[in-house]
Amino acid sequence: MLRSHTCGELKFEDVNKEVTLTGWVQKVRDKGGLIWIDIRDRYGITQLLLEDGRSDSEVVKTARQLGREYVIKASGKVIERVSENPNLATGRIEIDLTGLDILNSSITPPFTIEDDTDGGEELRMKYRYLDLRRQPLRKNLELRNRLSIETRKYLDDQKFFEIETPYLIKSTPEGARDFVVPSRMNEGQFYALPQSPQTFKQLLMVAGYDRYYQLVKCFRDEDLRADRQPEFTQIDCEMAFVEQDDILSTFEGMVKYLFKTVKGIDIPELPRMDYADAMKFYGSDKPDIRFGMKFVELNDVAQNKGFKVFDDAELVVGFVADGCAEYSRKQLDKLTEFVKKPQIGAKGLVYVKCNEDGSFKSSVDKFFDQDALKSWSDKISAKSGDLLFVLSGEKDKVRKQLNELRLEMGNRMELRDPNVFAPLWVVDFPLLEWDEDSKRYHAMHHPFTSPKPEDISMLDTKPGEVRANAYDLVINGVEIGGGSIRIHDRDLQKLMFKHLGFTDEEAQDQFGFLLNAFEYGAPPHGGIALGFDRLTALFGGQDSIRDFIAFPKNNSGRDIMIDSPSIIADDQLDELNLKVTV
Ligand code: AMO
Repeated sequence: MLRSHTCGELKFEDVNKEVTLTGWVQKVRDKGGLIWIDIRDRYGITQLLLEDGRSDSEVVKTARQLGREYVIKASGKVIERVSENPNLATGRIEIDLTGLDILNSSITPPFTIEDDTDGGEELRMKYRYLDLRRQPLRKNLELRNRLSIETRKYLDDQKFFEIETPYLIKSTPEGARDFVVPSRMNEGQFYALPQSPQTFKQLLMVAGYDRYYQLVKCFRDEDLRADRQPEFTQIDCEMAFVEQDDILSTFEGMVKYLFKTVKGIDIPELPRMDYADAMKFYGSDKPDIRFGMKFVELNDVAQNKGFKVFDDAELVVGFVADGCAEYSRKQLDKLTEFVKKPQIGAKGLVYVKCNEDGSFKSSVDKFFDQDALKSWSDKISAKSGDLLFVLSGEKDKVRKQLNELRLEMGNRMELRDPNVFAPLWVVDFPLLEWDEDSKRYHAMHHPFTSPKPEDISMLDTKPGEVRANAYDLVINGVEIGGGSIRIHDRDLQKLMFKHLGFTDEEAQDQFGFLLNAFEYGAPPHGGIALGFDRLTALFGGQDSIRDFIAFPKNNSGRDIMIDSPSIIADDQLDELNLKVTV
């Protein structure tokens, strides 16, 4: 090694040692007589010291040639620092320089490589390799590395096998569009990149590898958001000879293990909530249960009092914000504007202030007297000093709108502390979901998910009410993972395809390999996949997964550093038998 130590490890105990460090120049301060250089590597920063007149004149000369991000090798003696820097791990020492070599120079970087940089998003993405030198990103990748190691340790301990599955495959329906790759050797034909290794892991169960896992890249061509990338990583798992409870307890164990080993947090037993309750009480299939504000349905106390908006509504529903009765007109107007935004789409917001003197002040005083408002407040268990919010409308829509308001209030009231973690299982998802555009049912999870045996008889009569043996792992309002018990019976799988609108031929054409495999002794099986980028971002206390991925794409799915996607040469297109018509 060119160095004897890293830039993050020298302590007071090392005083008087002769050391050699290598790294990048973070900063040079030349105060005439004294020169300080901060040298940085991925382990930390160490201060180097030179004194004109005392230090070697050649070394002083070299130091005066340094610029930001020069790569250097620095040797000298560890000495105690005159003024300690408590913010730095190496803050009690500095190096009295006796040797300094420039290993490489650097042009001036386009932004400062410090914790708080002046670089905008685009610039940082373009020079990602420079952004990655910054400590916050370095820490994120360190966390990612730790989580992947601990995940593997846990699963290995539980006798899971890591098995790689192919990336050049045939479409696996996970609800997004496929990225496709043209095949040169098979004219006019395409591979699809896996949206997940779903069918392969099921085939591994047929093959007898009864505990499989893989930290695996998945590819989905879908609209991007803070928690979505076109290529992302899953902790993908499958188990044979299990029921839902076995999977939940195995992965509850993993969640607890990861929180304990990586964050030192003890997580109590995970609550389980039915999908139906999640929707009813939180208006979301991924409820943030770090805070209360559960929904209360008010139809019986709020309807038939002459307020047409409520009378015509399928659902009148609200929640209470503790201690917010003092909200000003301006604050309430802001919240009304918030729910009326097109993305949320409420027509208006009804509020009731529960005053300290026991009276009520509402936005619908014209229609509801004090007794009526008291009956709402009683039903919703409000106290004096609280504020009630009520929305009304079509059931599914109004619940979603109220969910947005609940989360907004959670933010405003600072109830969504990123250092508090509240995981839960959401279970008993519907098997099918109606799609208005195609006017047919789609699999809510994927087509391989097993219906609850007791609901199978409703497949023909009330398909929308059939529940699945499917579950999600939700933490702090984020869907971290999802999985299900699978269908392992060929006839049931064929029936499922039929309900999803596939003809027998289409099902055989697309999924014949799976249906065939089910004829050779497929064991009962099920599994789960956790979004590894989302899990890491959550552990890192952030909503966006982008800075937990070394080389992510921007919001338009572009890698602006390597400028991809890009046009390919005509002869390459020819070779692939692809003709572009402009
Ligand atoms: P699902 O589609 O629910 O299930 O995906 C599992 C988890 O992957 C994460 N995830 C994403 N993360 C980042 N960017 C994306 N575009 C993205 N899409 C999904 C989420 C999600 O919960 N094969 C099934 C699993 C199974 O049934 O075992 C599957 O892929 O955290």
